[in-house]
Amino acid sequence: MSFVTAPFSAEAPYFRREFTSDGPPDHARLQVTALGIVEPYLNGTRLGDEVLAPGWTSYRHRLQVSTYDVTPLIRSGANALGAIVGEGWAAGRLGYEGKRHHYTQRPALYVRLELTYGEQTVIVTTDGQWTAGAGAVLAASLYDGEVYDARREPDGWNLPGFAGAWSPVELLDWDLGTLVPTVATPIRRVEELPPVETVIRDGKTIVDFGQNISGWVRLATTGEAGQSVTIRHAEILRDGALDTETLRTARSTDRYTLRGGGQEVWEPRFTFHGFRYAEIEGPFDEVKAVVVHSDMRRTGWLDTSHDLLNRLHANAVWSMRGNFVGVPTDCPQRDERLGWTGDLNAFAPTAAFLYDVRHVLGSWLEDLAAEQREKGFVPWVVPDVLSTPSSPTALWSDVAVSLPWALYQEYGDDEVLRRCYDSMAAFIRDVETRLDDKGLWSSGFQFGDWLDPDAPPENAGGGKTDRHLVAAAYLAKTTREMADTARILGTADAGHFASLAERTREAFRAEYVTQNGRIAGETATAYALAICFDLLDPAQEAHAGTRLAHLVAKAGFKISTGFAGTPLILPALSRTSHLEEAYLLLLETGCPSFLYPVTMGATTIWERWDAVRPDGSLHSTGMTSLNHYALGAVCDWLHKTVGGLTPLEPGYRRMRIAPKPGGGLTHATLIHTTVHGEVRIGWRVTDRLTLDVTVPDGTDALVELPDGQTAEITGGSHSFGCELPGKDGPREPYTMDTPLKTLAGDLAVWRALTEVFAKHFPGIPLDGTAPEAAAYSLNRIVGFIPGASEELKNDLETALARSR
Ligand code: BGC
Repeated sequence: MSFVTAPFSAEAPYFRREFTSDGPPDHARLQVTALGIVEPYLNGTRLGDEVLAPGWTSYRHRLQVSTYDVTPLIRSGANALGAIVGEGWAAGRLGYEGKRHHYTQRPALYVRLELTYGEQTVIVTTDGQWTAGAGAVLAASLYDGEVYDARREPDGWNLPGFAGAWSPVELLDWDLGTLVPTVATPIRRVEELPPVETVIRDGKTIVDFGQNISGWVRLATTGEAGQSVTIRHAEILRDGALDTETLRTARSTDRYTLRGGGQEVWEPRFTFHGFRYAEIEGPFDEVKAVVVHSDMRRTGWLDTSHDLLNRLHANAVWSMRGNFVGVPTDCPQRDERLGWTGDLNAFAPTAAFLYDVRHVLGSWLEDLAAEQREKGFVPWVVPDVLSTPSSPTALWSDVAVSLPWALYQEYGDDEVLRRCYDSMAAFIRDVETRLDDKGLWSSGFQFGDWLDPDAPPENAGGGKTDRHLVAAAYLAKTTREMADTARILGTADAGHFASLAERTREAFRAEYVTQNGRIAGETATAYALAICFDLLDPAQEAHAGTRLAHLVAKAGFKISTGFAGTPLILPALSRTSHLEEAYLLLLETGCPSFLYPVTMGATTIWERWDAVRPDGSLHSTGMTSLNHYALGAVCDWLHKTVGGLTPLEPGYRRMRIAPKPGGGLTHATLIHTTVHGEVRIGWRVTDRLTLDVTVPDGTDALVELPDGQTAEITGGSHSFGCELPGKDGPREPYTMDTPLKTLAGDLAVWRALTEVFAKHFPGIPLDGTAPEAAAYSLNRIVGFIPGASEELKNDLETALARSR
């Protein structure tokens, strides 16, 4: 048994073989896979509904095989097996280094058909009896697109009796021990989107599908034989034309050449694109976008009274869909689309809430462990196609520990910990050998707080927060997860990992935390890490929370954090009782902020919050993918704090239900299908809060209301109500004579006033904490400003009035 390849070079060769069946078999089972992307046929019938099969795994260790029951398709007498194999991930251009042939020189096919007749079994497999021919698929690049010439489709090639002069195949030597049953959820065509707008420009049609997706377009076209339709794809338009800068060198261009003689319907099968817009040149009657991704089961929903927030949440869902195409990737559009570990690490808890990711990520973790066993390190991208070895890094490589831990929290099955244990322990032990004599991870490359908006354009890892502080903090977290894992599994090194966790935490505290709870560097990310990773004692944590809230307000509630800090900033604020600042940060719309992209019409999460600047131009870093799920990790806070659901025991056997309304939101509904069943939480604010919850039988929950009341509940539906704290009657309206100190105590008003001052006196701070603020009012301040304009007074009065 072997793989077969074409004896000529082609991006998508066609393969066929005939065999005879003596009567109908009792059973016929077909197994198929490829080094490449395979589309299998039996007697002209396309098998299954998977696309882009076998997906991308670490092929040299694990190549997934699809299995079909083909009993009804077998005919008595002559039968034909056929397959088209596109170059895909195995042979095509892959990775930003521009290399091809990562796994094989030529696309290769593997088939094993098992026919059972009573006691007798007949096997038909990929052997020297197959032939290969060139067909209609002329180019099949994942990045660059598919070229299909319908005139060249060999009629009847996948039926018995085909008489084309095809060449005998060559056998390819490939370790069949790598073949594994399909673990990952199959990739399918999940949804179709009609155009929302179509504009003709310079003879070409620009189609807007209204949503940034991964997939391709299907078109119906009528014309003469030899006429072509060219489809280019892009995430964004500039001046009405496609702007392909976010694709980098990926050409993302498909071309279809007509056979002529009636309407023809075509869609590519050996490429995919990340796009919202398509430019179509050539004749076509109709076009639709086909959304393509791993066909996972949806398990999480959140809806609120705030439209922009709902769109932010929907954008994270769409970015997940766009980036779970077999492998969890950074982005689906540019010449990258790699399984970047850090991106997934940040997003994993959100992903596991939204969809059932056990199969996709279970498969990916097997790849990670296999690569790590072979290479001795956790690659930055899995499957690894980088030409240089990856050194261990926080948030990226430590996904080896934190992803199994996150899956355990979500699904409550310790099997994932058991399966991943060696990989987790090997990563931690490797980092342990690199610690300095203070127990700190203080040397070696780190991505740091990647894409901090203040990092220089040419150095995305050079943000404000010391990268070794980031590393030390993450190590304190991952050694704790490791120690807990070892304790749960009762392994012999549990004691060792427990003391390593303690030592790492102490090392962080000694190096970076002052006695009162300031964190070295005083950045929002540093505070968020220290607070969320339990690195402070209670008094320090309270102080750190206050400092963090101050930094967040000082940044005008704009985002000042990167990949490491952004997912934790809201949790750190709400955990230290700064819910109001958390909501102000969440609901800010200036650039860069969580909602800014939404105001710019984003339909997915961007790689950076300011990927598209207010003037419509792209940020100059080149890190401007408009479909990157990593920063969508903010949704974890939405689920836990706005929706109000947190597991207290892995798998939500026991959970906390504690929604924290704020930011003027008047209602929210969360639904989550846990392994125990569906949890529903709905709250509504009128003159008081009402909360309705349903939890599955066999679970219990601690319900915490915003006024401090608590209740223990078990399976079933329950309703609660309470007064909202801080809602004790209307306050006196603010005026130009209200003391500044009072105004500064009301964050929303203070923010509005600060914006007015920033507009009139850029760079001059308005300090509400200075001692004189108790005595000064806005009227008094305005009196001190020589030539204070009427416009300033008007703006201040408007800001006060808006707060009523
Ligand atoms: C990817 C990121 C990734 C990073 C790390 C980028 O090109 O798109 O999301 O984590 O590289 O270097």
